[in-house]
Amino acid sequence: MALSEKNITCVPRHIAIIMDGNGRWAKKRGLPRTAGHAAGAEAFRRIANHCRARGVKYLTVYAFSTENWKRSEDEISGIMRLLGKYLEEALQDMEQNRVRFCFFGDLSRLSPKLRQMCLAAQSRSADYDVQVNFCLNYGGRLEIVQAARQFARDVQEGKRSPEELSEELFSSYLYSADVPDPELIIRPSGELRTSNFLLWQSAYSEYVFMNVLWPDFGPGDLDAAIEEYQRRNRRFGGA
Ligand code: IPE
Ligand code: IPE
Ligand code: MG
Repeated sequence: MALSEKNITCVPRHIAIIMDGNGRWAKKRGLPRTAGHAAGAEAFRRIANHCRARGVKYLTVYAFSTENWKRSEDEISGIMRLLGKYLEEALQDMEQNRVRFCFFGDLSRLSPKLRQMCLAAQSRSADYDVQVNFCLNYGGRLEIVQAARQFARDVQEGKRSPEELSEELFSSYLYSADVPDPELIIRPSGELRTSNFLLWQSAYSEYVFMNVLWPDFGPGDLDAAIEEYQRRNRRFGGA
């Protein structure tokens, strides 16, 4: 399905995606779960390109949650290996792709090498303007707790006072400090939950849940989600 001419102008500025369903995709084919993650990484490349073509300014993707450490060592190391491979290529193609990389999450639990690559990608791409936020070892609750902790420290050090805390100021303590809230959050795979994703930022997001597994997710699915978003009546509490 292609976006109609009329709707091409009301594309969300910020789309967030819970990239779910890799394991089931692999299982259906009798493949190891890691093969599903590899196919998921390809889907990410396709969709990141399509988002750029559609004029989306910010794309936030859930790649690894604080809860995903419960998985087998094999699966976790497979995912980390794929991330390393992706980042290596991204660093090589950086000048050509001109995508700004940001990482939301507690990177301290990643291997030093992977962490270094994340920081390098982030600093080397800081001047580019289409932004991809990778949520790695990310949890919405942890993000809020860390923000509260940092604010408390700032109060303790006399830099802030409790009275000045507003929603806006609190937002500036989150990973997403300079990023507008996502207008649209897409969850493929058929699950109907948020799994600890962008708890603060999603206060007024439109959710689109889709029955397609992430590795099968294509440009047509993204367009369908955008069209569904465009049919919603966003009232923000108004009448
Ligand atoms: C999402 O796919 C990728 C990660 C959570 C890292 P899953 O691995 O959760 O796939 P399903 O949900 O088991 O199918
Ligand atoms: C959410 O998917 C996390 C990512 C896609 C990275 P999960 O597969 O971990 O979520 P649950 O376990 O189904 O809630
Ligand atoms: Mg899953």
